[in-house]
Amino acid sequence: MTNKEDILKRTEDFAKNFFQKEYTGHDWWHTSRVRVLARKIAVEEKADLFIVEMAALLHDVSDYKFFGGDDKAGLSFVQKWLSSLEISKREKEDILKIISHISFKNTLPGLADKEKDVSTIILSKEFMAVCDADRLDSIGAIGIARAFTFGGFYKRKIYEPSIRPNKKMTQEEYKTTDAPSINHFYEKLLKIKDMIYTKLGKKIARKRHRFLNLYLKEFYKEWKGKL
Ligand code: ADP
Ligand code: NI
Repeated sequence: MTNKEDILKRTEDFAKNFFQKEYTGHDWWHTSRVRVLARKIAVEEKADLFIVEMAALLHDVSDYKFFGGDDKAGLSFVQKWLSSLEISKREKEDILKIISHISFKNTLPGLADKEKDVSTIILSKEFMAVCDADRLDSIGAIGIARAFTFGGFYKRKIYEPSIRPNKKMTQEEYKTTDAPSINHFYEKLLKIKDMIYTKLGKKIARKRHRFLNLYLKEFYKEWKGKL
């Protein structure tokens, strides 16, 4: 086993352990799927596979939801892990840069926090591969399963026709909303297709987007008791 393979294996175990008791759709298997898909995209884009796999494995370990809503606490937890490994300063920075800019929430209008604004960083191939893979896992059949899992965990209703989706949420509203899970399709999932960076990512997104629309069509049909 090379040094890099060993680091990846140790990081995989670290992430697996971190997500052991996770039931909101952000579990280990989400991380595992993101790793696999990010790698495929990275091969097409000729990106650095080590950086991509490391960032994919750690991208949700830093999630604010696991640190009482605090983005910074999560990031410093990952920073500590990276410092314990024999990787260069440059590699560590590249991984952290991807992780700190990946969140969908941070693409929504929020406080003037330039650090978090993805448009202020140079989009690297590695960032695009991991970010696309993460976003693709929130749409399609798996994305639907994750949305309702998240909704159930946070005691959200499946659907409430009187509560209209808010397509122009701020970061704060996104974090605190208690809207039904169907609204999330309009507030995030259906927007994903146009937020994908890579060629392969776009191809996958088109297929998964069609599936979301098909699902919604069936959902409303059944809701109205149509045959
Ligand atoms: P990010 O960490 O990129 O901001 P999210 O936390 O938005 O990502 O999403 C994590 C998962 O939970 C995704 O599958 C997402 O679609 C789902 N999710 C987030 N918010 C909601 C919600 N209000 N209702 C249903 N699913 C949600
Ligand atoms: Ni993720």
